[in-house]
Amino acid sequence: MSERSCLAIVLAAGEGTRMRSARPKVLHEVGGRSLVAHVLDAVRAAGSTATAVVIGPDAEAVAAEAKHVLPGADIYVQSERRGTAHAVLAARPAIERRTDDILVIYGDTPLIRPQTLSRMRAALAKGAAIAVLGFRPRDPSGYGRLVLAQGELVSIREEADASADERAIDLCNGGLMALAGANALAILEQIDSNNRKGEFYLTDAVKIARAMKLKAVVIETDEDDVRGINTKSQLAEAEAVLQQRLRKAAMDAGVTLIAPETVFLSADTKFGRDVVVEPFVVFGPGVTVDDNAVIHSFCHFIQSHIGKGASVGPYARLRPGAELGANVHIGNFVEIKASVIEEGAKANHLAYIGDTRLGAGSNFGAGAIVCNYDGIAKHRTDIGKGVFIGSNSALVAPVKIGDGAYVATGSVITHDVPADGLAIARERQVVKENRASRLRALKGAGKKKAAE
Ligand code: UD1
Ligand code: CA
Repeated sequence: MSERSCLAIVLAAGEGTRMRSARPKVLHEVGGRSLVAHVLDAVRAAGSTATAVVIGPDAEAVAAEAKHVLPGADIYVQSERRGTAHAVLAARPAIERRTDDILVIYGDTPLIRPQTLSRMRAALAKGAAIAVLGFRPRDPSGYGRLVLAQGELVSIREEADASADERAIDLCNGGLMALAGANALAILEQIDSNNRKGEFYLTDAVKIARAMKLKAVVIETDEDDVRGINTKSQLAEAEAVLQQRLRKAAMDAGVTLIAPETVFLSADTKFGRDVVVEPFVVFGPGVTVDDNAVIHSFCHFIQSHIGKGASVGPYARLRPGAELGANVHIGNFVEIKASVIEEGAKANHLAYIGDTRLGAGSNFGAGAIVCNYDGIAKHRTDIGKGVFIGSNSALVAPVKIGDGAYVATGSVITHDVPADGLAIARERQVVKENRASRLRALKGAGKKKAAE
């Protein structure tokens, strides 16, 4: 397959008005990734050698996302919405380069699997001029129907133009099409707009190919592959399907998910071997978990790395740039942002650590926090190896705590502490003997008076 060149044309000009959103449709997300990014990932994985993204006018944000995901993608603008074939021809310069295969795919079908695209390409390699992706939806209304004769595809009838007999066909057009590059332009140029909607239908390519004595075939797949997103409900349905796939892939790769249906993954979540994830954990984008780590319940992670054998949670929050080394322990109600927690360090209870290095083997006590923000700018804290930060301390950044230092409980640290230094930065305790009973008597008298 790889020796055949392949152009993928991604149609992303949809207005997406039914999303009721200011955001372009294909920039909505499933699995923490935009719809169009999923499609671009799939065409790349299916071996495309060039990619053209067709966008609507004023869709710079879509162009930027496409370039971000696939820097080599070429952007074409369809300035008027005149049908799917018209959209494909917006990428004419790319088509004229005559790759072996051309894949046309919609930017709002994020669940398309690379192996499905590969099957379509394989049909071209076997001599078909067109391969159409067919499926049997529970409710076929709105879809183009695939008209077959002797196992070959004869035409696609859009619902608006179909007869009653044709509407009874349950095999529908999923919308994806593979065309042999050698004939593609000749076919596309013959498509007209003589139909109910007055649009240039890509689907007419089939009957034109037949008239040219070329072969068209159907590749059948399941509904999930071709799910197009038009509404927020469909977005949520696609998310559910994607989550099932991601959970299964993680378990197939050896991750233990105790209650998989309660764990939410991102398309790019990466796990090592023998990781255990307890129920109710959310993995946002950009999270990597190394071998033997244990993630306890109710954690939320974004753009973070969890080292080998680490134990995290329950109730831990890792924000962008949290880097946990091997065997680190992060306990309940601990938030970490843009910080390196070195091997074996611990923050077991109720802590905030931001813009910090916490050295190897150090202990960050219960309720201790780093004050990294002074209301104007963020500042760094550097804590060495083997340091003890006493409970409920506040480290006012920028500040450095040397190796082996000891910060007494309840300290407010505003100056650097040298290696092996003991810092006590709190009010001295005062004890007044035999005064507790007097205090109670005094307060009791006051209360009685107030009640009178
Ligand atoms: C299309 C198919 C139909 C198929 C269905 C599957 C045609 C004529 N019909 O119908 O057979 O069952 O998809 O979902 O192809 N687009 C543009 N520019 C345009 C028109 C469309 O970029 O001028 C893009 C849209 O953004 C969308 C895709 O092409 O991503 C499909 O267009 P849409 O109008 O939704 O086609 P359907 O009527 O759903
Ligand atoms: Ca559609």
